[in-house]
Amino acid sequence: MPRAPRLAGAAVVAVLSLAFLLPAEAVPFVVLHGIGDQCANRGVAKFTKLLADWSAADGYCLEIGSGTLDSWVMPLEQQADIICKKVKEMKELSGGYNIVGLSQGNLIGRAVVEYCDDAPPVKNFISLAGPHAGTASVPLCGSGIFCVIVDALIKLEIYSDYAQAHLAPSGYLKIPTDMEDYLKGCRFLPKLNNEIPGERNATYKERFSSLENLVLIMFESDIVLIPRETSWFGYYPDGAFDPVLPPQKTKLYEEDWIGLKTLDDTGRVKFVSVPGGHLGISDSDMMKHIVPYLMDKTSTSASLAATWYAIKEALGLMGSNTGVLLQSST
Ligand SMILES: *[C@@H]1O[C@H](CO)[C@@H](O)[C@H](O)[C@H]1NC(C)=O
Repeated sequence: MPRAPRLAGAAVVAVLSLAFLLPAEAVPFVVLHGIGDQCANRGVAKFTKLLADWSAADGYCLEIGSGTLDSWVMPLEQQADIICKKVKEMKELSGGYNIVGLSQGNLIGRAVVEYCDDAPPVKNFISLAGPHAGTASVPLCGSGIFCVIVDALIKLEIYSDYAQAHLAPSGYLKIPTDMEDYLKGCRFLPKLNNEIPGERNATYKERFSSLENLVLIMFESDIVLIPRETSWFGYYPDGAFDPVLPPQKTKLYEEDWIGLKTLDDTGRVKFVSVPGGHLGISDSDMMKHIVPYLMDKTSTSASLAATWYAIKEALGLMGSNTGVLLQSST
């Protein structure tokens, strides 16, 4: 009976040649950096390149305006508009793409998912230290000229028109004991999180809950985000600074304002906690918690990269906590 083996052999040859002629294209990804950072900086450039190498997917760091300065002073609505325009113009993304967000960049990414009309679909959203539920303190500034500006602005009313128009983090600074002013004056996060009663937009929820996976990475020693659980959508209750509510106990989740509960109920939210300070992710945690969502599972080059990595790790050739990203970046 030579027929069956020959058919099987032909099938194997066909599959192999398909694999080589039409290599499965991994979905491309974009990186949205944090505050005080820019695509040209070594940390974020290396981060993007490592993820692209390990996943065999094309990765693009998308810049906003001048980079570092605009990340501080351009209102987030405007930053999100710029990224919205970019993702629609990039023909590389037209078949859909993944987002890797770093800190503040996560809120821009989420705005693109929720209200960038006629944009290509976002498949997986991988969030590192995103202030998703707000933060009760302005990110550490460090030193330099921006901090002079920032300090001056913080001394003003944070929910004033002036601060809202000139300081990006004022768009997600959420003082739990001042919810009234927050809901009235804060221009960005209340809208993004569908927090304002009577102004909830079902389209935001529909779009956000259509993600394939939402990976929420929190850093165990994050002292930049207050509280660090905001990386998981956990936050303080209205009116008090304690206790920190787990995501499932917040109104955003319970009343499912943006579809987080819908995503979680269907097993699409990964709550990940890793050691390290703000954005101080190790190579092995990048490999474990980010790369699998960027890889095309059928791609041979990606599996080879993953296998090679596993071998290197087993032999102790990988730095265990190199933290490619700048710790100061938010
Ligand atoms: C809700 O958001 C969508 C997407 O941006 C927009 O097209 C629509 O006009 C909004 N609806 C309301 C009632 O604001």
